[in-house]
Amino acid sequence: MDLIEQACAVRDHAYAPYSGFKVGAAIKAASGRIFVGCNVENAAYPEGTCAEAGAIAAMIAAGEVEIAAVAVIADSPEPVTPCGGCRQKLAEFGTGRTPVTMANLAGLTRTASLQDLLPGAFAKADMDTEDR
Ligand code: THU
Repeated sequence: MDLIEQACAVRDHAYAPYSGFKVGAAIKAASGRIFVGCNVENAAYPEGTCAEAGAIAAMIAAGEVEIAAVAVIADSPEPVTPCGGCRQKLAEFGTGRTPVTMANLAGLTRTASLQDLLPGAFAKADMDTEDR
């Protein structure tokens, strides 16, 4: 199964009773291993988590810290675009060149780099000071 297919498969497990908008994400780590996640909503709406966050958590729990590629899919009119918060979360573990493939169930796909999705991402280096 390729990355989009894995994202599509895990999307079936999304828990989205409030928005009705199921999302699946798959991350290929530096080792080649693939980690998946889906959105998990909550009756206390802000407590819900995005699919990308779930996939990142699975990768970190497995001891990997480098994202090589990402795929995200939903039943959206256009290939689903990661939210701003998820772009920042992905940037923590990818590079500017890391490809993010966005897809929808109709089979449309679009690939963009993390740099294109989040120019000027805040990073660890932005906290460098003489004092810390
Ligand atoms: N959602 C994601 O899982 N990833 C995104 O990048 C966009 C939004 C989820 C959050 C919420 O459960 C639902 O989609 C509607 O916003």
